[in-house]
Amino acid sequence: MTGHINLQLGWPSPSIFPSEQVLQASSNVLTSPKKSAASLVYGPDAGYAPARDSIAKWLSSIYNSPTTSENVCITNGASGNLDNVLARFTEPGYTRNIWMIEPSYFLACPIFLDAGFEGRLRGVPEDEEGLDVEFLRAALKESEKSATQQEARLKTGPRYKKLYKHIIYGVPTFSNPSGKTMSLRRRQELVRLAREFDALVVTDDVYDVLRWPQNPDTDVSQLGSVPPRIVDLDRTLDDGVKDDFGNAVSNGSFSKIIAPGMRVGWAEGTPAFTLALSQVGSTRSGGCPTQISASFVHEMLETGSLQEYLSKTVIPTFRERYYAMFEAIEAKLVPLGFEISVGKPYEATFPTNGQKAGGYFTYLTLPSDVSGRGAELASLGLRDYDLKFAYGDMFQVDGDPDCAARAAKGFGKGVRLSWAWHSKEEIVEGIERLAKLISDTRNGS
Ligand SMILES: Cc1ncc(COP(=O)(O)O)c(C=O)c1O
Repeated sequence: MTGHINLQLGWPSPSIFPSEQVLQASSNVLTSPKKSAASLVYGPDAGYAPARDSIAKWLSSIYNSPTTSENVCITNGASGNLDNVLARFTEPGYTRNIWMIEPSYFLACPIFLDAGFEGRLRGVPEDEEGLDVEFLRAALKESEKSATQQEARLKTGPRYKKLYKHIIYGVPTFSNPSGKTMSLRRRQELVRLAREFDALVVTDDVYDVLRWPQNPDTDVSQLGSVPPRIVDLDRTLDDGVKDDFGNAVSNGSFSKIIAPGMRVGWAEGTPAFTLALSQVGSTRSGGCPTQISASFVHEMLETGSLQEYLSKTVIPTFRERYYAMFEAIEAKLVPLGFEISVGKPYEATFPTNGQKAGGYFTYLTLPSDVSGRGAELASLGLRDYDLKFAYGDMFQVDGDPDCAARAAKGFGKGVRLSWAWHSKEEIVEGIERLAKLISDTRNGS
């Protein structure tokens, strides 16, 4: 055994941190009196202006959907920004529910709880195309029927020009945890639904650019553009946004594609939305929450070092680990009764783009004879095999008993594995340990 193996951790491994590129970028900034003056001062509310511009250009190129710096503000990552979105655009006395696509990124739940929504988080099941839209429609209707809140009570006055009645949260591309990618038609349906019910769709678009062909022999440059985000569709679908604020915000992050310690992300929405978001109280007082790091990211985008690092290091490394993991899954876990459960193949959901895999995670259903024992297996794995993995019940929506009931029949029987943290050899060993855990459990040893 090579020591502890953690297939739960969704962190990029330090061996691929772009230290050299960050060093070069920081040196460009700090050796220039003009750049260092601009990056060491309190940042503008919407963030370091050159970074807003370079991020907008980069996003326009990868999504094939033109955007401008007016649509973008700099954030200190997707987590901090989710908090800010809730602070600016929701009020527990007015906003009815937070709808979370389930299985859910579990660390988002406490952010919603801190914003005052305890007891009002609701799960919405995924289907094979990434979202059970009819379930969501019926649930929204029901919620509206029983809503007692008609007017905002706490956040009144000109400071709060827009509050939403509902928040819908998810990870449409290479979802954490399910690995699913939502189909184009589901995305369109979601935009229409959000408009109908005065909902804001918040998408953590943090894995989108980490894509590689499902066939290892295909050239990475043949991948085509990244699927349109919900925010792209809100801009264009049925004559475009419904009002100044729109019904979608893309919550982006450099955590998964540079390094989490950078603490830089971006939000993209309508100009009115990003302006209001950047006026959150703590930013008005302290300026952009990540000014100097954003200036480094700008240098990396402007010089192309980030794009090169992604295509030459990050994607090939993850791609190699992904295939190592899948070969081991096919060889060791599938014969034991595991099933790969990541929804419809990408090709079926985005037919023009060809088959792709990507992101950080895959989701497997446990063999039926042990499928109700995910938590127990995870703790045995840690104790006896020095192996950590995430089990399905971790991804329940906090405080929603219906979600818990659905988990018992569905996603709770799964495990989530990540290829982001370990080398391919360690990943293979991790899968072998998981296979041994299941065989030994069956044998009662
Ligand atoms: C879906 C999702 N959102 C947000 C985050 C955290 O993002 P950040 O580091 O930008 O706060 C993660 C990290 O695992 C994630 O998977």
